[in-house]
Amino acid sequence: MARARAKLDVVRPMPDAAAILSALPVACAMICAENRFVYANPAAEQFFAISISQLRHLTLADLVPLDSPLFALIDQVRSGEVVVSDHDITLESPRLQRRGVTVQGTPVTEEAGYVLLTFQDESAARTLDRQMNFRSAARSVSGMAAILAHEVKNPLSGIRGAAQLLENTVGDLDRELAVLIRNEADRIRALVDRMEAFGEKPIVRDAVNIHRVLEHVRRLAQSGFAAHLKINELYDPSLPPVWGNRDQLVQVMLNLVKNAAEALTEGDCSGEITLITAYQHGVRVAVPGTKRRVHLPLVVTVRDTGPGIPEDIRDHLFDPFVTTKSSGSGLGLALVAKIIGEHGGLIEMDSRPGKTDFRVFLPIFLEDRFDINATSAGD
Ligand SMILES: Nc1ncnc2c1ncn2[C@@H]1O[C@H](COP(=O)(O)OP(=O)(O)OP(=O)(O)O)[C@@H](O)[C@H]1O
Ligand SMILES: [Mg+2]
Repeated sequence: MARARAKLDVVRPMPDAAAILSALPVACAMICAENRFVYANPAAEQFFAISISQLRHLTLADLVPLDSPLFALIDQVRSGEVVVSDHDITLESPRLQRRGVTVQGTPVTEEAGYVLLTFQDESAARTLDRQMNFRSAARSVSGMAAILAHEVKNPLSGIRGAAQLLENTVGDLDRELAVLIRNEADRIRALVDRMEAFGEKPIVRDAVNIHRVLEHVRRLAQSGFAAHLKINELYDPSLPPVWGNRDQLVQVMLNLVKNAAEALTEGDCSGEITLITAYQHGVRVAVPGTKRRVHLPLVVTVRDTGPGIPEDIRDHLFDPFVTTKSSGSGLGLALVAKIIGEHGGLIEMDSRPGKTDFRVFLPIFLEDRFDINATSAGD
């Protein structure tokens, strides 16, 4: 009996509902019968990018166009007194730009016409899904690369050698053709060499200072393909080291910066590239085949002010051989996705005309290595 009482003593009072709603990471807002905002939790303030004190002076129609399916959903909730949810809603107005939102409406029985709305941005979840697919796409290239290396490289060196011999023995007119064969053979060889980078080798990792990697990439870019462009750096110098492979991370950043530079060169040349590093809490991914989740707190963003990613290639952007460039192989981003995947990281793209962001989320170096083991190659 005495023990039971002792147990009861430690039961804490329930936190009030406002504290729970404030902590909820889902955007919740309540509207009255006239569609005025009567409540919004901090996640909703973030979602609408408006503080609650301002929201309380607005109606839903101030933020969302009247023909939005959101109003039909609210009518349905009110008329049937039922919970209604809708997926993939677009909420676009001068003040708000959200796509792929899941909205749920719940009637509030105590107050006539009141509706509780929750908003969830599903595009983030989809990005993660796609990231998983990129890994398998990259794997299929690695198999193909092995076959190509075997089946193409050997005969190719024979063709190249024969063309070189011909160059010295034929007349001027035919020599041009022999040179063409040699040059094309070189081009195919370079392509096969690039594909060989997809080979399945175990990744060797260490503590890597991401700022040194970016500094190296910036220098390479400015002494070559981005000599004419401005590259800004916005670094958080307090960041811990990444748990990764330095050379592969250079390759990743170089591919992203090169794409950014190429996007700017196609445009009006007045654009610029910005490299940003930051620490971000709360990004965790499941490790395939295990119950573990890894934290990916370090974010590197490669931003450019170019025209943006063409709409028609977005869904396959990280697949091999997807390119819009006449001399591109479409292997850059496929390789980036493969390397980031092997690091246990994530890559996200966010693009519109004038601002394209590629965000790479990476695990940090930890002394106890618990998280690190979960992210080793071949997961
Ligand atoms: N920053 C960017 N801005 C606009 N479009 C981009 C950007 N980055 C990539 N793209 C688009 O994505 C496509 C695929 O990029 P990826 O790096 O995989 O191949 P590539 O650059 O065409 O060729 P490679 O990298 O093999 O030379 C590009 O052709 C381009 O259309
Ligand atoms: Mg590229």
